[in-house]
Amino acid sequence: MKLRRVFVCGVAGIVLASGRLLAADSHSTNAAAATAAVYVPDTSHQNDPLPDGVLAWNGLTQETTVAADAGSAHFVFSFTNIATVHETALVTNVTTLTNITAVTNSSFIWFKKISFVTNFSTATSITTNNVTKPVPVAILDVHPSCGCTTAQLPPLPWIIAPGTNGQIGLTVNLAGKTGMQIKTVNVKTDKGFKRLDLKVTILPPVVPTQSAADRARALEMAKADRQAVFRGDCASCHVKPGAGKYGKPLYDAVCAICHESKTRASMVSDLHNIKTPTNVDFWQTWIAHGKADSLMPAFSTADGGPFSEIQIASIASYLNATIPSQLPANK
Ligand code: HEC
Ligand code: HEC
Repeated sequence: MKLRRVFVCGVAGIVLASGRLLAADSHSTNAAAATAAVYVPDTSHQNDPLPDGVLAWNGLTQETTVAADAGSAHFVFSFTNIATVHETALVTNVTTLTNITAVTNSSFIWFKKISFVTNFSTATSITTNNVTKPVPVAILDVHPSCGCTTAQLPPLPWIIAPGTNGQIGLTVNLAGKTGMQIKTVNVKTDKGFKRLDLKVTILPPVVPTQSAADRARALEMAKADRQAVFRGDCASCHVKPGAGKYGKPLYDAVCAICHESKTRASMVSDLHNIKTPTNVDFWQTWIAHGKADSLMPAFSTADGGPFSEIQIASIASYLNATIPSQLPANK
């Protein structure tokens, strides 16, 4: 609450200069009410940081933890439009002006209607209230940091009426991903932009366990046919976890079950300690064809395995990069 002399001048301006305005007052009010409000967003602030007090969010950072085989992670960010503009000043407590019932839209004061004013010279104390008016917010764009993240939204620009809520759904595609994934999403509005942060922790694959009897039976079957591992029930542990994966995630899902197991059978090689020189061709050939009369299956489709050439190449290049050859090639 503060006294501002300028408002007194404003009243004087209206009262003295504008008998016409006072007389026409009720008409101008009706004319304003008859015009439907069409909100046209101003896009000039979309690259400025969004000030506080525009959208109230349920959080700007969200985290989730998902199983190794989850194909995607889903987030919902909710917000409420709390934006206001400082529109005008409302005059209250006009103590010694008499017979004022209201004033219409001067540039300074917002009364409703004036019917008559007397004794203006004795006006001594006009107290003002600042008036804020709720306004719409327009969401102009929702831009994720990577193509793997998609937003679920109404058509843009999305006008959020004052005081109402909205939700932005975000889905992160996790195909072929492991470990921690951090994504950002830029939400542009007509009042500025806001960054949302997403964090997904992908749990390591659950190591399947077998009874000793099942393992012994599996070993017998594999000895009879090393490709048996890709069929029937065997495939649920030995093939399915690799679906849609490449490179390290594929190795972790399909090769590590035999080669990285701490309790692996003695005939399963330690790939970190190979006694011959290695290169991309070495890995590629082993993965594609395995070894006849051993337990190492052939993964290429040409040899009856489950892998495409691209999947084979992806593991070969991953292993060649991470397991350097232990021995120099023979010349
Ligand atoms: C429940 C999951 C599961 C199923 C089903 C399964 N395996 Fe395995 N397999 C494993 C695991 C885990 C290992 C690693 C063994 C260890 O270290 O305990 C393994 C290892 C192997 C090995 C390497 C030798 C060894 O014992 O270490 C062969 C060969 C094999 N499995 C073949 C098969 C065949 C053939 C089938 C189908 C009859 C089969 N597996 C079904 C989980 C499974
Ligand atoms: C069912 C268990 C099993 C699976 C699954 C498996 N291997 Fe093997 N792998 C073996 C066994 C057993 C050997 C030893 C073969 C032999 O007797 O020489 C071997 C040998 C190898 C060798 C040769 C190592 C050397 O010392 O020269 C390479 C390379 C290899 N595997 C890579 C892979 C890769 C890469 C994958 C995944 C695409 C994979 N293996 C999946 C069981 C497995």
